[in-house]
Amino acid sequence: MAKPILFSGIQPSERLHVGNYFGALEHFAALQESGKFDCLFCVVDLHSITESFDPKEKKEQILAVAADFLAAGLDPARSVIFQQSQVAAHSELAWILNTITPIGELERMTQYKDKAARQKENVNVGLFDYPVLMAADILLYRAAAVPVGDDQLQHIELARTLARKFNNRFGKTFIEPKGLLARTPRIMSLKDPAKKMSKSQPEGCLFLDDDADAVRAKIARAVTDSGSEVAYDPDHRPGLANLLDLYAAVDPDRREPKTIAKLFAGKQYADFKRGLAEAVARRFEPYRKAKAELARHPERITAMLAEGSAKANRMAAETMHDVKEKLGLAV
Ligand code: TRP
Repeated sequence: MAKPILFSGIQPSERLHVGNYFGALEHFAALQESGKFDCLFCVVDLHSITESFDPKEKKEQILAVAADFLAAGLDPARSVIFQQSQVAAHSELAWILNTITPIGELERMTQYKDKAARQKENVNVGLFDYPVLMAADILLYRAAAVPVGDDQLQHIELARTLARKFNNRFGKTFIEPKGLLARTPRIMSLKDPAKKMSKSQPEGCLFLDDDADAVRAKIARAVTDSGSEVAYDPDHRPGLANLLDLYAAVDPDRREPKTIAKLFAGKQYADFKRGLAEAVARRFEPYRKAKAELARHPERITAMLAEGSAKANRMAAETMHDVKEKLGLAV
């Protein structure tokens, strides 16, 4: 019997960081390895152009996210890895879904409101319609499972609403997808444990391609809390707790933050930070090597994406055929 489909995407716009790794890439790889799903992983370039961008950089960014997928262990022999804009059906289905999407549903989207407030000079219709394109990405493959960060759950809810609405009105066509959250705690900024790690605060952000020296320097300057003992107390010592969460996330033995704190009992913060920096650098070394190797062969990545996109196009064509039948557009 065919396995349920799993779909997820990453925008080619940001340099990925450790938070993205544990929240997305590592989760994707684990789901692929579980063998429970037929997986599609997409570089969602059409989403990325809803925010200000430089066309001269876009191609590099697309290849970089595809390389991130591969370096994280996604395998084109088992999963379909592809580029959104190479499959025209994403845009086509988004248009059709637009016709059943109440404007009010989109006006409620918190990510839209945040982004519109941030980029006042470029509040374009694409930014507003972003969640409908995302629904199209998912519904097009009749995906049942969608690994995402918690900030995307509202968008998944819209995809479910649109699937239901289409099915009720035109007949059973789509599956209502479910969001899957990664189990790793959110990695917060090294400079402000109340904020998510983000590229907009680069000093507090560990990028996946930071070398060992950069990792050491950033961790050495990370905020801790007053006190001198290494102990895990998220409520009262959030800065230190965030560093212990990070340590636990990169620990090859998968020990709990509390257990790790005990290893540093009686030691200084500085000793702990050195230990953490080494653990982070070691954890991402194979990743950085794999990515550097891929960067030397961009033509391999382009070929891999073309092959993935061809497969995705075949899958998408079946759904679009069905959709057009249901709408009465097939003459
Ligand atoms: N909006 C998602 C994010 O920013 C990216 C995305 C686009 C996506 N289309 C998707 C994620 C479809 C899952 C499924 O993280």
